[in-house]
Amino acid sequence: MAFTFFFRDLQVLEQLVEYSLPIIAGRSYPRVWDAGAATGQEPYTLSILFAERLGHFAFGNLRIDATDVEPTGQFGRTIRDGFYPEAELNRLPDGILEKYFEPEQEPGFRRATEKLRRRITFQQHDLLSLQEIGHGYTAVLCKNVLLHFQPAERIQVLRMFHRALAPGGLLATEQTQEMPAELAPYFARLSSDGPVFQKREELT
Ligand SMILES: C[S@@+](CC[C@H](N)C(=O)[O-])C[C@H]1O[C@@H](n2cnc3c(N)ncnc32)[C@H](O)[C@@H]1O
Repeated sequence: MAFTFFFRDLQVLEQLVEYSLPIIAGRSYPRVWDAGAATGQEPYTLSILFAERLGHFAFGNLRIDATDVEPTGQFGRTIRDGFYPEAELNRLPDGILEKYFEPEQEPGFRRATEKLRRRITFQQHDLLSLQEIGHGYTAVLCKNVLLHFQPAERIQVLRMFHRALAPGGLLATEQTQEMPAELAPYFARLSSDGPVFQKREELT
């Protein structure tokens, strides 16, 4: 179930970037975890949105850790290489295609610029292992993934995200995702019209 596309759920991604900016301003090496990143259209979209909003230096210090349960082979290669069919890239807003994707020798394909590629890592990771890939994340993005899990699994995975986040870090999900009542004290919803939450306090 790796259905995804560039600029999907743009409103959520824009809100996440907007709320991240003041947090990133206070961090030397901000990191974002994109969990369930599929073949990379989402982390590349996020990277473009950050590149448009951050200065050269701040963007150069950002790292987006993309993970997916699928084996590193196909997904990892696609994300690392940044090759995408032009048919998929037609979704990009005016000016963004030429700015961030270079023509390739292979007709019908473009490649993400090095500037974008250098910001994104990929590793295989099963969210249901409940082992966070690291700590101190400025933000975690997990969109169109949690809905595949059982309610109890969802709570465990959200607790893991809470552990992975730095104090005051952000969590973004899909528009329809409700925060389970058990976890509501630990994540504050930042706006009434978006699924971006802020870590409130340590879970015990
Ligand atoms: C529908 S895609 C969503 C991709 C992207 N987040 C988006 O919103 O466009 C769901 C992704 O979740 C991944 N996934 C499913 N179960 C997972 C798990 N247990 N751990 C990590 N990723 C998982 C799938 O492999 C797939 O790539």
